Amino acid sequence: PAPIVVLISGTGSNLAALLDASRAEGSSYEIVGVIADREAAGLAHARNAGIPTEVVRLKDFPDRDAWNHGVRLAVDRFAPQLIVLAGFMKLFGPELLEAYPDRIINTHPALLPSFPGAHGVRDALAYGVRVTGATVFVVDAGIDTGRILAQEALTILPEDDETSLHERIKAIERRMLVDVVEQLTR
Ligand code: GAR
Repeated sequence: PAPIVVLISGTGSNLAALLDASRAEGSSYEIVGVIADREAAGLAHARNAGIPTEVVRLKDFPDRDAWNHGVRLAVDRFAPQLIVLAGFMKLFGPELLEAYPDRIINTHPALLPSFPGAHGVRDALAYGVRVTGATVFVVDAGIDTGRILAQEALTILPEDDETSLHERIKAIERRMLVDVVEQLTR
């Protein structure tokens, strides 16, 4: 199976889904490392599965370029074929993007190009759109601007708040992300 690295900042439900699917018979990829930019709760999924983890904190580096380099070295050690951002909430500088062109993918909880950035669910609700969704895309130098690989829409319910809507979106993301990773590594 193709070695992949997953980067997280949060609860890691997408990581857990990727992990589950990778254990299925005939899966085309294997998670060889998980990297976080903080002591993220989701690291537990990796640790429980015996997968090596690394925390690369911005504040442990003199500046952002040095942190970018630190992330790049952490990724390089795992020699991944594909890098999956699964709720990773920081932007990369050019170093990692140039080292892994077209090999970094991300999942976003909105229908890009609408509502990019850190608050895709909240921003869609605030705007009052009736339909939102999830997007899996190739990371480029912009903020959530890369080539779209998969996208699925979902109707916002009148009673939705940010939490309920995000949970339904995440259910879509988990399924879509696993599908895309399987396709890209097959
Ligand atoms: C997901 O909804 C993902 O799309 C979002 O963080 C959540 C992570 O959930 N990412 C972004 O908003 C990136 N800008 P998880 O930690 O449970 O996988």
